[in-house]
Amino acid sequence: MPSHRHPVRASAPDLPTSPVPTGTAPIGTAPAGGASPEEASTAAALAFHDLVHRRRDVRGEFTGAPIAAEVLTRVLAAAHAAPSVGLTQPWDFIRVTDERTRRAFHAHVQHERAVFAATLSGPRAERFARIRIDGVLSSSLSLVVTYDADRGGPVVLGRHAIADAGLYSVCLAVENLWLAATAAGLGVGWVSFYREEFVRELLGIPAGVRPVAWLCVGPVTHLETQPDLERAGWARRRPLADVVHEERWGGHVETTCSQSVARGSSPMVGADWHQPVPAAPSAIPTDQE
Ligand SMILES: Cc1cc2nc3c(=O)[nH]c(=O)nc-3n(C[C@H](O)[C@H](O)[C@H](O)COP(=O)(O)O)c2cc1C
Repeated sequence: MPSHRHPVRASAPDLPTSPVPTGTAPIGTAPAGGASPEEASTAAALAFHDLVHRRRDVRGEFTGAPIAAEVLTRVLAAAHAAPSVGLTQPWDFIRVTDERTRRAFHAHVQHERAVFAATLSGPRAERFARIRIDGVLSSSLSLVVTYDADRGGPVVLGRHAIADAGLYSVCLAVENLWLAATAAGLGVGWVSFYREEFVRELLGIPAGVRPVAWLCVGPVTHLETQPDLERAGWARRRPLADVVHEERWGGHVETTCSQSVARGSSPMVGADWHQPVPAAPSAIPTDQE
């Protein structure tokens, strides 16, 4: 019987090359000078974890430079390789470059921003006023990711008890896209300040297909090492040990997480999680296009 497994290998010679940010090894390549399979796979694993922690949600660092067609294809191919419930692949990707469309969306986002801002008061309102929430006009293009619940027919293997499993699949495609873009030296910013009906009408999306993510994509000057919302003092990442439970909800994990954090596998090592995050308003991108 023929095997449909890919052989395990440390490089992907059939893929086109793409720019990789300075200081990082291309994913899946062996260290220079020849390496044992063990060393090569370690390098690949390190590169992967570096990529995961380097990924950022980008708002203010887009350059607006064009994206090479083969790079965009590779990013979309990564998204399309995501796992999906019942292998339904319920996603579609709409590439939006038209200036008028983007301006119309941006105006809608500004409106929804105001709707959200009206729910805030005091220091929270002041802080939000300084936070930028999108790079719709400054990014090179937008990719809108949609969810079609009808894809795969009425009977979907694995979705009979959890209708949201289809949506989960689309979000995995988004994450693949996000990581692949990061590996290609691009930034991605997810914008969710919109009403689905507005986007459906703007882009001619059929009834029943849900826009799940409006992603701003393009080359960036740099990726910040800290999430913008953390830098703005809006929220902060939780330590790993706070979100891992042993056996049952609330079960304390003494070993795995605390040890791995202590070993330095987390970017949060050394942070004092009991202190409020100092806001650095001058350093964060503001909501000015
Ligand atoms: C479902 C989803 C919706 C989001 N919507 C927005 C948004 O409308 N505007 C924005 O600036 N960031 C948005 N983000 C980005 C988050 O704020 C960001 O992921 C988070 O602050 C962590 O930062 P990081 O992605 O740089 O690690 C969204 C992220 C997700 C996953």
